[in-house]
Amino acid sequence: MSSADDPNPLLDGLRIEPTPSPAAVVIFGASGDLTRRKLLPALYQLARGQRLPARYAVVGVARTAMTDDEFRRQFHASLKEFAGVAKPDDVSSALAENLSYVSGELDDPALYQRIQAKLKAVGAPDGVLFYLAIPPGVYATVIERLGAAGMTKAASPDAWRRVIVEKPFGTDLASARELNRLLHVHLDESQIFRIDHYLGKETVQNLLVFRFANGMFEPVWNRRYIDHVQITAAETVGVERRASYYEGAGALRDMVQNHLMQVLALVAMEPPIAFSAENVRDRKYDVLMAAQPLDLHAVVRAQYGPGWVSGADVPGYRQEQDVAPASTTETYVALRLFVDSWRWAGVPFYVRTGKRLPKRTTEIAIQFRKPPLHIFRRVSPTNIASNLLIVNIQPDEGISVRFEAKLPGSRMQLAPVMMNFRYGSAFGTPVPEAYETLLLDAMLGDATLFARHDFVEASWGLITPVHEAWNASGATAIPLYEAGEWGPREADDLMAADGRRWRTL
Ligand code: BG6
Repeated sequence: MSSADDPNPLLDGLRIEPTPSPAAVVIFGASGDLTRRKLLPALYQLARGQRLPARYAVVGVARTAMTDDEFRRQFHASLKEFAGVAKPDDVSSALAENLSYVSGELDDPALYQRIQAKLKAVGAPDGVLFYLAIPPGVYATVIERLGAAGMTKAASPDAWRRVIVEKPFGTDLASARELNRLLHVHLDESQIFRIDHYLGKETVQNLLVFRFANGMFEPVWNRRYIDHVQITAAETVGVERRASYYEGAGALRDMVQNHLMQVLALVAMEPPIAFSAENVRDRKYDVLMAAQPLDLHAVVRAQYGPGWVSGADVPGYRQEQDVAPASTTETYVALRLFVDSWRWAGVPFYVRTGKRLPKRTTEIAIQFRKPPLHIFRRVSPTNIASNLLIVNIQPDEGISVRFEAKLPGSRMQLAPVMMNFRYGSAFGTPVPEAYETLLLDAMLGDATLFARHDFVEASWGLITPVHEAWNASGATAIPLYEAGEWGPREADDLMAADGRRWRTL
């Protein structure tokens, strides 16, 4: 029995951590990178925190032939490499005993019979979570085969079947709609968990708490007090070894359509009536419904050329492995978006993301309007800096507020100062990995931090016309920025045309 089923009145007022009912996690793509880097370490951390169900099993599925023991060895190797667990410990050894493996071709119905037999052998748990950590081209095959084998239907009212679908969810509006249609043939929306790992980040979740569990910010969170919002996701890495995917994706699909639209929606949403999956996701969806179509002149794309990042000489995008020599895939995007709601009419949201930028940082900056009158102008003629609220999503998780203060001394002189909250020093506990939170939520059936079908489609609805216009333009060139620089001049021009500047990070 899970503790969630067994409320103890003595725990009233204390933090009750729900644990899922007995469950099996079936990972399609078990020999792949995502499983090694993220999923197995996340399961280990959940086990360490005693957040896994009392009875659970993890079944890996992939084409690569492997025995259960080989999969267990791969599990220990992945913990060594990605979770810093040098030698098997009590937790990892116990977890390894619950691991098993089934190999086969994803389109072969016999594979699904073998998975069912394996689930039976491990005690046929009530809940089964299928994790699609596989290339998007085979999502449909797996869903169809699971449906045909009757594996998407739970046998009893207490039992459940859920599916986590990885990104990318479609490549444009039409393909996202088609994937949703197919999923809905075999699954109810409540069974579908479209993952966006940004939503599992502690700081992204904290946006909801910051906005709606505090009384002092919400009254100023609107067009009357806010001049504009800047959302930045800067990476120092290049395309790494992912060009075969990235060449067809580009920064707009890879980062903006999913992660940054989710972040934007959390910044701009109205207060939900309750913290529940449907209420929160309804209000986020409203934001995209209110978004104006993107103005093509307000979308800048660019690609990194050779340069220096973190003290190393790095090649340009076109020189990377598996990239076409004349590729026009964008590795940088900056855009301006307006949300036509009473709260936000006329307030620009600027979004930028890029690879091979000087610093890895993701942040939301809320720039407030200046005070109506500079009454200190005569004694302190320097301009007053606007108040700024910065939500540092990573790596230095926290929130900062910039305000004007009097410089110490006999003269009345002003200077901007920062007030900082940092997760590390405030709570002293490490911030959990997004995948831990999301895996656990999916096991608990809580979809608050997952993308709903309508949001995904609305987001593609905004992005797709831009891709169509880019394709129709037949452009054979793309602005370049030097690796290690803050993007192209065009991105600065976008801001300058509005009389604004990107924040210096
Ligand atoms: C992934 C993108 O979804 O997010 C990558 O495919 C990107 O290109 C990554 O590097 C960024 O995630 P994070 O958590 O490092 O900000």
